Amino acid sequence: MTDTLRKVFIKTYGCQMNAYDSARMADTLAGEGFETTENADLADLVLLNTCHIREKAADKVYSDIGRLRRLKNERASVGNPLLIGVAGCVAQAEGAEMMRRAPAIDFLVGPQNYHHLPQLLAQAKAGKRPVDVDFAVDDKFSALPSPLPKAIAARGPAAFLTVQEGCDKFCSFCVVPYTRGAEMSRPLARIIAEAQRLASAGVREITLLGQNVNAYHGAGADGRPASLGRLLFALARQVPQIARLRYTTSHPCDMHDELYAAHRDLPQLMPYLHLPVQSGSDRMLHAMNRGHTRGDYLRLIERMRQVRPDIAFSSDIIVGHPGESEADFDDTLSLVEEVGYAACYSFKYSGRPGTPAAAHDDQITEAIKSERLARLQERLDAHASAFTASLVGMILPVLLERQDQRTNRLIGRSPFLIPVNVDAPSDLLGHIVAVHIRKAAPYHLSGDVAANATDILSPASHAMAQ
Ligand code: 5AD
Ligand code: SF4
Repeated sequence: MTDTLRKVFIKTYGCQMNAYDSARMADTLAGEGFETTENADLADLVLLNTCHIREKAADKVYSDIGRLRRLKNERASVGNPLLIGVAGCVAQAEGAEMMRRAPAIDFLVGPQNYHHLPQLLAQAKAGKRPVDVDFAVDDKFSALPSPLPKAIAARGPAAFLTVQEGCDKFCSFCVVPYTRGAEMSRPLARIIAEAQRLASAGVREITLLGQNVNAYHGAGADGRPASLGRLLFALARQVPQIARLRYTTSHPCDMHDELYAAHRDLPQLMPYLHLPVQSGSDRMLHAMNRGHTRGDYLRLIERMRQVRPDIAFSSDIIVGHPGESEADFDDTLSLVEEVGYAACYSFKYSGRPGTPAAAHDDQITEAIKSERLARLQERLDAHASAFTASLVGMILPVLLERQDQRTNRLIGRSPFLIPVNVDAPSDLLGHIVAVHIRKAAPYHLSGDVAANATDILSPASHAMAQ
């Protein structure tokens, strides 16, 4: 292998935490002389940042590695070698076994070890095939380099910021506690510093990320644990250039008073909450080890609506968890009607090796899972359509994030996260503009810039009804 490696192609699978990690890996590799490319054919290094949450996601990685193996062989035959690294949760879960199954892989790195990338690359170049999946004792967040302002700006005006990682909840079906490890929160001051760096490079919106983000309990200025609510108040006060704040993903058991207060008092905090319920049946919630009932969940929704009446909710739902009866599934359908989600992700249960649910003997057949998913999705689509239709005619503040290369229209996000296509000149990119919503589809909106409104400087988040 030569020392002229220059381009890295990073493919991100799965959640937003992976998207954040991929950006940080790109920053680390920039320090090693790499620039990113969108084209694997031009790359000297391909890095797959993988997801293990469902079987399909993990299978996809192996089929991609099959394709890359052919590319790697072709490249080797013309003396232009290609390195393949696998990062993320599949690397963490499968470790050395993955190296045996896929000999084309040059190195593996688990989610806690991305700051070791330079050493791993050096070893891989020397033909060593290193596997680095032990939970690192040092902290990857402090060890990873700060992104350069140019790199931040290139990623657009909306950024992710990971504040918490790992999970101690052990839901019956979920691999996260095994792949991401125990819960850990970054100290509040470090998060503020990162937010300030993002703001000074032009970022207007930050989404705080964590597998269990509302369980955040990083050390505050006084050294005592601070809640997510407190972190949001601190960000609003100390980084006033950030016009919009969001956070995801929350667990119903970790909702807390300061978080309700933040939704009540902070106009920067967008009126949108992703609060996965997984099932509407108490029997299933118990089997899933969720730690809350249907009634608990509905009370949280009600309380949030009292402090922030325009708030929109989204959720994750699993159909066909082991033991789910028709009556349990009906409870899920009725909960969906009761909440009226603006958006909701829904999945067929997928058995994950090593999780308690995978060992149950009352697995649900594929046919039943598919049939339930279709029935559920029909209702979820109907609610999503009703929600977007209710916004037509309103003027909403939209952060314009990027330009559609095909139509030249700008694409931004409403306070409710729903994308909005806007006919507007490209110099408005990065601005929050008032948009008159003209048309709605189930999961997106379109409109035009309202007269005399170019940039809403104050963090206006409430819908301004016409
Ligand atoms: N099967 C199907 N869906 C799952 N999720 C997590 N584990 C599984 C699984 N084994 C879903 C949950 C979670 C979302 C990120 O993925 O709904 O909230
Ligand atoms: Fe997985 Fe449950 Fe933890 Fe969410 S709360 S990451 S579903 S174990």
